[in-house]
Amino acid sequence: MTASTDVPIAPDARLHAATHGSAAEPGATGRAGAKAILLGEHAVVYGRPAIAIPVRALGARAEARPARGSATLASTLYHGPIARAPERLNVTITAMRAALAAAGRPDAALDIAIDSSIPAERGLGSSAAVSAAVIEAVLGACGLAADDETMHELIQTAERAAHGAPSGLDARTVRARAAVWFERGRIEPVSVGHDLVFVIADTGVRGRTREAVAAVAERRKNDPRGVESALDELGMLATDLRADVSNGDRAAIGDAMNRAHRLLNGLGVGDPALDHLVRAATTGGALGAKLTGGGRGGCVLALARDAASAGELTERLTRAGAAAVWTTTVEGAA
Ligand code: PMV
Repeated sequence: MTASTDVPIAPDARLHAATHGSAAEPGATGRAGAKAILLGEHAVVYGRPAIAIPVRALGARAEARPARGSATLASTLYHGPIARAPERLNVTITAMRAALAAAGRPDAALDIAIDSSIPAERGLGSSAAVSAAVIEAVLGACGLAADDETMHELIQTAERAAHGAPSGLDARTVRARAAVWFERGRIEPVSVGHDLVFVIADTGVRGRTREAVAAVAERRKNDPRGVESALDELGMLATDLRADVSNGDRAAIGDAMNRAHRLLNGLGVGDPALDHLVRAATTGGALGAKLTGGGRGGCVLALARDAASAGELTERLTRAGAAAVWTTTVEGAA
């Protein structure tokens, strides 16, 4: 297939001709960013709201171009024919196939190159971001682009291959540029009253989202009242937090994060490595800290007092054994 002369037949009517790029361009690119959940992971699976923030320091980029021979994939995990790619790349391949099917070109052979700085399985939305980048690049190579809803559905198709019945929070937030409120599948912007400086520390332990989601479901079967009350509290914390973020009340935001961490531990999705970094963050001056994402490993999100104390917090978390530390600022009106 060629991106230049063919007029694509797109059975999915919601796709439209790409406006960027030119026919002479050899390949098309797609991009998406990392995300961190400020509050509401796991509770969103049961219809409660959540707030997520973009992590601008980390991102995924994909490039797709017509293949010379059979389709190939190039990433840090693998370089070779798609037909022989390891199972770990199933989500990415599902994303590629979903995009090709939507473009009406299920059999098109593309060479896809992926470059991502988002660590995988750390609760930072790596799978959704890589999928989003691949889908955008594949559609672009077919001369097409998707609206937000269609993009979301295509990313969700890939996310289902990653963890069963995803809430859609990751799929929505990896394409968001600012803090978002997520409720029942949809996002809205969150007003931010004051700059919020967050430090994210990686335990180095792989997060196990699928397992953690299953553990919460099992606990809910055995202790419906206890789990529902924790989920309700997480929902209320998220609602109050939205107002705290809007008012720039950092102390209240920190308190909510600390409480959420305890509730998540109570739901069985914690890990000693997470507790260790949460303690290091709070004793190191953070206003609050919690696990972020699916849990059972992955990352800790801590709220720093300001940019200067984020530097001290970074040192503290590194000394405490964090495998990597990033800082991200959510910009406020003041
Ligand atoms: O670990 P992550 O980044 O995939 O985040 C998962 C968030 C959960 O609420 C645990 C699951 C979901 O589908 O929202």
